[in-house]
Parts: sequence; structure tokens; C-alpha cells
Amino acid sequence: MAESVDLGEIQETLLIPLYGRARDAQATTSVLDDHTAIDLVDAIDYDFEKFRGPSLAGSVLRAAIFDEFVRDFLREHPDGTVVDLGCGLSTRFHRVDNGRVRWFDLDVPDTMSLRRKYFEDTDRYTMITGSIFDEDWYDAVSARGGPIFLLSEAVLLYFDEERVHDVLRRLSRRFAGGRLAVDTGGALMMKSQDSNPVFRALPARMVWTCGDPRALEPLGIKLLDSRTFGTPQRSVARRWPSTTRFLMTVLGRFAPPVRTYKMNLFEM
Ligand SMILES: C[S@@+](CC[C@H](N)C(=O)[O-])C[C@H]1O[C@@H](n2cnc3c(N)ncnc32)[C@H](O)[C@@H]1O
Repeated sequence: MAESVDLGEIQETLLIPLYGRARDAQATTSVLDDHTAIDLVDAIDYDFEKFRGPSLAGSVLRAAIFDEFVRDFLREHPDGTVVDLGCGLSTRFHRVDNGRVRWFDLDVPDTMSLRRKYFEDTDRYTMITGSIFDEDWYDAVSARGGPIFLLSEAVLLYFDEERVHDVLRRLSRRFAGGRLAVDTGGALMMKSQDSNPVFRALPARMVWTCGDPRALEPLGIKLLDSRTFGTPQRSVARRWPSTTRFLMTVLGRFAPPVRTYKMNLFEM
């Protein structure tokens, strides 16, 4: 029998990318081919169909761009450590696992107890119950030593600028030399939320506005790469259906919410 979920407002937003990946896996030309997402949607008793519109596909494209940032890191550092801060029900570890990476998925208690119903720790994969804003997980993820990659996808957007800047400052100090991938959204994207059918279906709203990721550099991070849906990595674009690629190139140029939504890679 499908299980019901009881999640906080921001936590519930994890069901959007989950459903996006499940829909994508059922498409003729799938970007991520995430069949686990289909199983999870089947296992969870929830009105997923209320999520409609292009942002569902957007969450899939975003995941593909983040995946490539991680794959690039693992090509350079096959034994590196990756930490997904605010992982939700992401299957990224299983998508990019090279057989050697040490991986940590972190999320807050209600999300993590949901996640633990469907995923298990292994010798290279560990789930941590915690908050991106706390520091009690820092030692655990650094224990192996060596290169580290932190990523936080569609999480910081839900918090105010002061908290986001503070946490970026602390991460850059503690994990100096490592990589960090986070997404940023400009003012027009923030303003479009109430007219976006996916976001309208839930009460949580994104609040952190950042039009230019380079403006974050004074916090101690250096911008290495920044992508929009109109400018994905070439290897990623090749796996997108040609209609998606064409549409995103046009929207990336002319539609402000798409143009100002950025997936960024920093050095800490
Ligand atoms: C839109 S979902 C994104 C989930 C996942 N990153 C993905 O892309 O599928 C937002 C996530 O932020 C998590 N979250 C909320 N507050 C958090 C916090 N203080 N620390 C870490 N994660 C948090 C939620 O539980 C949820 O999983």
C-alpha cells in the first residue's frame, strides 16, 4: 500500500523534482532515465498530478546539469567525497556512482526519515540527518580527507539572503579548496512563482534573489562555471531531446525566468 507523507512546507517541494524525474523516465526520450523515481512515486500516497507545467521538466534539466558538475569532479578525483545538502529523494549517487566515490546525502529530519524508508547506507554511501545551516556534520564528511564536492540543489533559494550568505561564508572557510555547486535565481524568476502552476500548488516560496552569481565571490567562493537551461554543458545538451534543446535555447535568450535561473560551480 502507498505510504502517506508528512513533510514541512519547504520539505514538501522535494516531491516536485521527484515527480519530474518519474515523468521523464516514462518519456520516449528520457534525459535521466531514473526508474527509481517511478517506483518512489508509486510508493508514495500523494496527489502528484497537481504538479503541472514546464518547471517539472526544468527540475530534470537542472539535475542533469548538476550531475555533469559532479561527473567532471569525479573524472578528476575518482576517490573524492561528494555531499548533497538537501538531497530530498534524489537518486544522484546511483546516477553518477563511479564505484569509488564516498558519498553523503544530508537532509532535515522529516525528509530523511522518508528517505530512509527507500534507501540504505552502504560502505560508500551514508545518509545524514541534519541541516545545511548547522556544522555538526562537517567532521563526518571530511573524515576520509582528500578532495570534496558540496552541492545543494533547489535548497538555498528558500532561505533569506542573510542566512544564505552566512552559510556560504562558513562552508567556504571550512572546506577551502573544495568545489561547491548551487543554483541562483534572479528577481524575475522569484516574481513568476505565483503564476507558475508547479509552485502555485504548494505554499513554500523561494525568497533568496541573486541575479549575478559572481556577486557571491566576496563570501570566499570563486565562480568557475555558470549554466542556464539555454547553456548546458555540451555533453548534457547531447542527451536532451532536440525539441527541448531548441526550446531552451530560445527561452534562455528571451524568457527572463529561464535566463536568470543559474546552476553555478564555485571553488571554495
Ligand atoms: C526542492 S527540494 C530539492 C531536493 C533535492 N535537492 C532535489 O533536487 O531533488 C528542497 C529540499 O531542501 C531540503 N531542506 C529544507 N531545509 C533544509 C535545511 N535546513 N538543510 C538541508 N536541507 C533542507 C528539503 O527537505 C528538500 O529536500
